[in-house]
Amino acid sequence: MKPPESFVRRTVRPLAAYGPPRDPAAVPLHLNESPTDLPQDLKAALAERIVRSDWSKYPIGDGARLATELANAYGVDPAGALVGNGSNELLQLTLLACIDPGDAVVVAAPSFSLYALQAAALGARVIEVPLRASDGAFRFPVDELIRTAREAGAKLVLLGSPNNPTGTTLAAADAERLAQEAPGLTGIDEAYRDFCGQDFAPLLGRAPRLVLFRTFSKALAAASLRCGALLAAPSLCAELRKVQLPYNLSAVTCLVAGALIARPDLVRERAGLVAQERERVAKALRSAGCTVHASGANFLLFEQDRRPANELHKALFARGVLIRNVSSARDLSRALRVSVGAPAANDAFLAALRAEL
Ligand SMILES: Cc1ncc(COP(=O)(O)O)c(C=O)c1O
Repeated sequence: MKPPESFVRRTVRPLAAYGPPRDPAAVPLHLNESPTDLPQDLKAALAERIVRSDWSKYPIGDGARLATELANAYGVDPAGALVGNGSNELLQLTLLACIDPGDAVVVAAPSFSLYALQAAALGARVIEVPLRASDGAFRFPVDELIRTAREAGAKLVLLGSPNNPTGTTLAAADAERLAQEAPGLTGIDEAYRDFCGQDFAPLLGRAPRLVLFRTFSKALAAASLRCGALLAAPSLCAELRKVQLPYNLSAVTCLVAGALIARPDLVRERAGLVAQERERVAKALRSAGCTVHASGANFLLFEQDRRPANELHKALFARGVLIRNVSSARDLSRALRVSVGAPAANDAFLAALRAEL
């Protein structure tokens, strides 16, 4: 008798599950969440609307309405917007609809591990292009990405800007060149864009093979909501809608997300605080002898050679500070990633680091 797991796709069996550390910590700076919650009065007003709504009915038009609200806020064609339970779901939808087994998908290394994981699960041939330049800094090697994509006939180049875990940003002109010169789709995950003022949506009109992913989980301070958006050519979105599940977003998510997108002041406030704190933490890390990489996101990647990264990560955790150990990723053997939190959390991290270095 074959065991039940033997019926799982051959491409899925060898994969390791995606799993950020879940240990509770007094100072959690490992998931790049917003340092502050949304205002209590806004939450109370939304809760009241949720209580008054009829929970017995399917949210028939809610998702399409939210997609239109988002498209209007982002200045794109509503037919070119899809909404999902987090941007990651839309990334998976794109791969599901587009990737045949054996298709080449080009990613940067290091980058968000989910890109390669989800592509590999569908049988894609994942090709990594290193981000680390010879001077030790991280940069998107645009010419090499285009050359690699052309040589492999890649169906998709999938990048994050700012890139997780390095914080590296892609210039708009390079994003446009990539989307025009790569032979397939160019997917850019803009999860952290608010922390550096990046907006690639205006490129969509000139680069029809560009696909953008956005989220409510970071600067919008709504990671628990699980809401994200995909912006792309209307003709591509029409195909993706064919495999999207009906009523995929709950009425509650649509209601809350619609209210949040109407309040750009909430993002501005949080992004401003993070940018200020990012500079302060970076400076303090440098004074403590660390190399800190340029970041356009709400996290910093830093390297030091006084202690092995694994050991330092454990020692910080013992002091109640949880950051992300990325040292097993390509080219990151001495690196750790810390989220930029509220000032008190950042101070606690810096005090623990100084005590351990
Ligand atoms: C690169 C990247 N993309 C997207 C997300 C957020 O995904 P979601 O919108 O599904 O919460 C994260 C969260 O850590 C991330 O690091």
